[in-house]
Amino acid sequence: MIYDRSSTHLRNMHYTVLAVLVSYLSWRVICDPSVVYKLKNIECLTVNGFSANASCRLKAVNWNKAVAQMDVDLVKPLYNISVQLQVFKKDYSNKFQPFLINVVLNVCDLLSKRSFMPYGLIILKVAKQFSNFNHSCPYAGHLIARDAYLPESFSPIVLPLALYKMNVTIMENYTRPPNAHVGGIVWYVQAMQPIQTKRNPKLRASRY
Ligand SMILES: *[C@@H]1O[C@H](CO)[C@@H](O)[C@H](O)[C@H]1NC(C)=O
Ligand SMILES: *[C@@H]1O[C@H](CO)[C@@H](O)[C@H](O)[C@H]1NC(C)=O
Ligand SMILES: *[C@@H]1O[C@H](CO)[C@@H](O)[C@H](O)[C@H]1NC(C)=O
Ligand SMILES: *[C@@H]1O[C@H](CO)[C@@H](O)[C@H](O)[C@H]1NC(C)=O
Ligand SMILES: *[C@@H]1O[C@H](CO)[C@@H](O)[C@H](O)[C@H]1NC(C)=O
Repeated sequence: MIYDRSSTHLRNMHYTVLAVLVSYLSWRVICDPSVVYKLKNIECLTVNGFSANASCRLKAVNWNKAVAQMDVDLVKPLYNISVQLQVFKKDYSNKFQPFLINVVLNVCDLLSKRSFMPYGLIILKVAKQFSNFNHSCPYAGHLIARDAYLPESFSPIVLPLALYKMNVTIMENYTRPPNAHVGGIVWYVQAMQPIQTKRNPKLRASRY
C-alpha cells in the first residue's frame, strides 16, 4: 500500500485498528470459550427378534476426544424406523435430570427428505458422517459406525458444562401397531472446556 505524507494520520488510525484486532484475536485464543463434547461411555441394547450381535466400544484418542466403534446385526428388515431422543443432564446431586430434548423422530422420513426436524437433521448429519446409516429405508443386515464422535459444532447452542446422557431408543412402526422397540443406544457425553497440553497446541486448528 502506498501512503503520501498527508495520510500519516490515516495510517496511524489503521495501526490502531489493527492493534485492537490483533489483541482481540489473541484474547479469543487465550480465553477460548469453546466447549468440546467428549464421549465417556456408550451402551448398546439389542432386542430379541430384532437386533443381535451388538458391539459398542470407545477408543480414547486424546484428553479431549474418544471415538465410538459400533456394530449391530438386524434380524429383520426395518421399514419405518422412528427414534426417541431423550437428553439428560447430570445435576449437582449426581442425578440425571431431563434436559430440554425429548423428541420422537421418524428417521425414514428424514432420510427420504420428507421431514426436516432440526434435531433429526443433527442426528443424521452425525450418523452419515460416521456410519452406513446413510441411505433411505429399509435397513437390513449389518449396521456399522466407525470413529464416531460429536464434533464441537454439532450443537447449534453451546451446551452448559456437565455430563449428559443421550438416550436413543429405536422403534419400528411407532404409533401404529404392531409396533416394537428394536434397539437402543445410550451415549454419555462430557461437555467440557478443552484440556490444552503442550502436545496439542494446534487443537483449535483441528476443529470442525
Ligand atoms: C450373529 O452372529 C452369529 C455368529 O457370527 C451369526 O451366525 C448370526 O447370523 C448373527 N446374527 C444376525 C442377526 O446376523
Ligand atoms: C454409506 O456408508 C458406506 C460405509 O461407510 C459407504 O461405503 C457408502 O458409500 C455410503 N453411501 C452413501 C450414499 O453415502
Ligand atoms: C432409554 O430410554 C428407554 C425408553 O424410554 C428406556 O426404556 C431405557 O431404560 C433408557 N435407558 C437408559 C440407560 O436410561
Ligand atoms: C410409520 O411411522 C409413523 C410414525 O413415526 C406412523 O405415523 C406411520 O403410520 C407409520 N407407517 C406405517 C406404514 O406403519
Ligand atoms: C410395521 O408395519 C407394517 C405395515 O403395517 C407391518 O407389515 C410390519 O409387520 C410392522 N412391523 C413390526 C415390527 O411390527
